[in-house]
Amino acid sequence: MIVILDFGSQYSELIARRIRETQVYSEVLSYRTTAEQLRQLNPKGIIFSGGPNSVYDTGAPRCDPEIWNMGLPILGVCYGMQLMVQQLGGEVAKADRGEYGKASLYIDDPTDLFTNVEDGTTMWMSHGDSVIQMPEQFELLAHTENTPCAAIADHDKKLYGVQFHPEVVHSVGGIALIRNFVYHICECEPTWTTAAFVEQAIREIRARVGDKRVLLALSGGVDSSTLAFLLHKAIGDQLTCVFIDQGFMRKYEPERLLKLFQEQFHIPVEYVNARERFISSLSGITDPEEKRRIIGREFIIAFEETSRRLGPFDYLAQGTLYPDVIESANTNVDPQTGERVAVKIKSHHNVGGLPKDLRFKLVEPLRKLFKDEVRKVGRSIGLPEEIVQRHPFPGPGLAIRIIGEITAERLNILRDADLIVRQEINQRGLYHDYWQAFAVLLPVRSVGVMGDQRTYAYPIVLRIITSEDGMTADWARVPYDVLEVISNRIVNEVKGVNRVVYDITSKPPGTIEWE
Ligand code: XMP
Repeated sequence: MIVILDFGSQYSELIARRIRETQVYSEVLSYRTTAEQLRQLNPKGIIFSGGPNSVYDTGAPRCDPEIWNMGLPILGVCYGMQLMVQQLGGEVAKADRGEYGKASLYIDDPTDLFTNVEDGTTMWMSHGDSVIQMPEQFELLAHTENTPCAAIADHDKKLYGVQFHPEVVHSVGGIALIRNFVYHICECEPTWTTAAFVEQAIREIRARVGDKRVLLALSGGVDSSTLAFLLHKAIGDQLTCVFIDQGFMRKYEPERLLKLFQEQFHIPVEYVNARERFISSLSGITDPEEKRRIIGREFIIAFEETSRRLGPFDYLAQGTLYPDVIESANTNVDPQTGERVAVKIKSHHNVGGLPKDLRFKLVEPLRKLFKDEVRKVGRSIGLPEEIVQRHPFPGPGLAIRIIGEITAERLNILRDADLIVRQEINQRGLYHDYWQAFAVLLPVRSVGVMGDQRTYAYPIVLRIITSEDGMTADWARVPYDVLEVISNRIVNEVKGVNRVVYDITSKPPGTIEWE
């Protein structure tokens, strides 16, 4: 295993993903992790991430100095390198010229860390401070035009520092460098494979659960479906899957989900029709956060009722993923205090919102996986592509795609419009070109004319976006003729809509969903 100590970089997770792509397990931990705690984990190497601070800021995050004496290989990236330099007796200062974006890297020592990395390769830089003096024993490995010390090493102690970000996709030689660090310097074996994960997860689930019963809330997304498959494989009918229909799913989806699981996968699912209670509890509610709160609360009530009716259950299965684990332990660093602060933009409702005092114990077999790893696992245990490659769909569903009050009429309109968007995108083979493609209903009305008649009806917004991870997004350049067909069909086929508009806002500053 390789441990990444996170100093507040937006790229820490990405480093972990890159390491795992080399089939070596990696975890992101807080920079506060002590040498003693690291010893317990027994990693083969450590990476210090970048971070938003300058090493000279008061309260800038520092590592336990004992870590330098552990004899483990360490790679410092950006801030991580500067910290290494500063703590080991070198000097870092504000650079005359910061370096942001692509830079050509000239290699002075083409051995270990830079084996197979081409001289002059492009690396991604993002720094205002630079190393102006290396600590004793360190040697120069590479430089760029503006950064004389772009990579350094103390070969004997296996301490390495790079000023650039090898983990980002624009760093052409980055993967080769990471592989060198992981395989040659840390001497890791490529044992982190999907098959090994599945085997181990099944063993662990059986050991944890024994002969007890497990309850799982199925949503039909890739996470809960993979979870259901994995648990079903591990413990068979000790697992009970519950699907709570809040009434905010897309058209035909509840039926489709039940059919797939029961008839095709032979995994029984308990269907709970909670449509009435959800919609009535949202009557008159227009505030987005209030909607989410109420939906979260109602979900828990419905879930508890079901578990009482079908129980008792000892365990609750949750599709917690690794980014959730990192995020809850780990957030931004406040440059003033060095403390971590979470920035709340929207409260995302997941099953994760269950209260702490709930009497279930948790089984979370996916908690070490990134989303792309979940997909691989799902695929390897037989989940069909239709679910594996599915676009994300928010927990509160269509409720946060109807701006303002949710009514049965508005839900029906949105469902019909949304179906047309999906049909047209699917039919043209465009589904996989987009991260998400959906319709939003606005609570205003505008005037139109149809067959010599004045209309006064709702507009539908099309939100079709591309994204790598949902954190940032761009509006998709959907061909005009596709937009035209979607618009024509919606206005002609969906009663109550007389106008279709296309949202051309990226994220940031917009968000993907409208609420
Ligand atoms: P935003 O709107 O924050 O969305 O740009 C980012 C991604 O998260 C999804 N999303 C949600 N998922 N519960 C969820 O499970 C939610 O409340 C929620 N809100 C947004 C959204 O669809 C996008 O993929």
